[in-house]
Amino acid sequence: MSILITGGTGYIGSHTCVELLNSGYEIVVLDNLSNSRKDSLDRIKRITGKDIKFYHSDLLNKGDLHTIFSENNIDAVIHFAGLKAVGESVNVPLHYYENNITGTLNLLEVMEKFGVYRMVFSSSATVYGTQEKVPLSEDLPLQATNPYGRTKLMIEEILRDVTIANRNWSIALLRYFNPVGAHPSGTIGEDPNGIPNNLVPYISQVAIGKLSELKVYGNDYNTHDGTGVRDYIHVVDLASGHLKALEKIMRSTGINAYNLGTGRGYSVLEVIQTFEKVSGKLIPYKITRRRPGDIAISYADSSKAEKELNWSAQKNLLEMCADSWRWQIQNPNGYESKEPEYSSKLILN
Ligand code: NAD
Ligand code: UFG
Repeated sequence: MSILITGGTGYIGSHTCVELLNSGYEIVVLDNLSNSRKDSLDRIKRITGKDIKFYHSDLLNKGDLHTIFSENNIDAVIHFAGLKAVGESVNVPLHYYENNITGTLNLLEVMEKFGVYRMVFSSSATVYGTQEKVPLSEDLPLQATNPYGRTKLMIEEILRDVTIANRNWSIALLRYFNPVGAHPSGTIGEDPNGIPNNLVPYISQVAIGKLSELKVYGNDYNTHDGTGVRDYIHVVDLASGHLKALEKIMRSTGINAYNLGTGRGYSVLEVIQTFEKVSGKLIPYKITRRRPGDIAISYADSSKAEKELNWSAQKNLLEMCADSWRWQIQNPNGYESKEPEYSSKLILN
C-alpha cells in the first residue's frame, strides 16, 4: 500500500515515516522544505534500511500535485504539511491561511480527481481553545484563539463538508496534544529554526548551553504548583497513532476526530525536574509574566482513540525527556550536525 506523506520531512512526519516503513508501507513524501531539511530522509533511510520517494514540492502548486498522483498509485494521504507557529500566525495571518488552507484545498481537489478518498489529518488540541473543564474530549464545542488555530478549525470543517458531499471519503482528524521527544536512536528529532518557542526544545538548548536560562511563563495559574500544565506525548507514540488511524480509515468511511495524548498533565516545573534528572544538567530558570494566549491546563481524554483505534500512548515523561536529550547531544546543531553513531544507551542518572 502506498501512502503520500505531506510534510514528511518535518518533525512528526519523519517519525511517522519510520513507523510506516517499519510496518511495510510504501511511502511517497512531499515537502517544500520550508521548515525542515532533506537530511531527515537520509536518516530515516538509515534507521529503516528502506528507500523513500521524495518530491520537493509545494501544496500551493497544483501542477506538482497532479504529477505526484499520476506517477504514483496513492491509496491514502497523511497530511502533516502546514505552518505551525502560533505567534508568527498572528503577525502574518494571510500567509498562514494561504499556506494551510489553500494548500489543503488543492490537495483535496487533486485527491478527488484521482479518486483517493482517505486522509489522516494533523489537527491540534488548539481547536479546544479555552475550556472550563479538563480532560478535553472530542465532543466539546470548538474554538480557536489565533490564526494558526483557526486554520486547523477551518480545515476540520472543510473536511466535514467534503465527507457530507461525497460518502466515499474516510477521514481521521488527529488532535495532537504536546508532541515531544525523538526517535530513541537519537537520529531524527525536532530541529526548530532559531530560538525555540516550545518548552522541551527550549529546555534542551539550555541544558546543552546554547541558551542561558529558561523563562517560566507564570507561576500564578490555578494548578498544583502554579505553572502551566500540558499533556506531553512522545512523538513515537504519536507516530504509531497515525498507523492505527490509517488502519481505521482503510476499513470504514466517514469522518472522526481523535485526541492523541497520554491523558496526563505535567507542569512546567515537573518537566524541568525530569529533564534535569535525565540529563544530569541543572536548568537555570526564571519565573516571568504569563505568555499571552496561554491556558492553565490542557490534557486529553484519549478514551475514544483507545476504544476505536486500539491505540494508547506507551511512553512516559522520563522517556520523552531522555529521548529529546539524546537527540540534542548527538545533534547539537540539529540536522546540520554530522550524522551520529548509533547509540541506544539511556542517559539516566
Ligand atoms: P514541521 O514544521 O516539522 O513539519 C511540517 C512540514 O510541512 C515541514 O517539513 C514543512 O516544510 C512542510 N510544509 C509546510 N507548508 C508546506 C507546503 N505548502 N507544501 C509542502 N510542504 C509544506 O511540524 P510538525 O511539528 O511535524 O507538525 C506537523 C503537523 O502537525 C502540522 O500540520 C502542525 O500544525 C501539526 N501539529 C503540530 C504540533 C506540534 O506541537 N509539533 C501540535 C499540534 C499539531
Ligand atoms: N513555557 C514556558 N517557557 C517557555 C516555553 C513554554 O514556561 O519558554 C510553558 C508554557 O507557558 C506552557 C508550557 O510551557 O505552559 C508548554 O508550552 P509550549 O509552547 O511547549 O506548548 P503550548 O501548549 O503552548 O502549545 C502547543 C503547540 C501549539 C498548539 C498548542 C495547543 O506548540 O502549536 O500546543 O495544542 F497550538
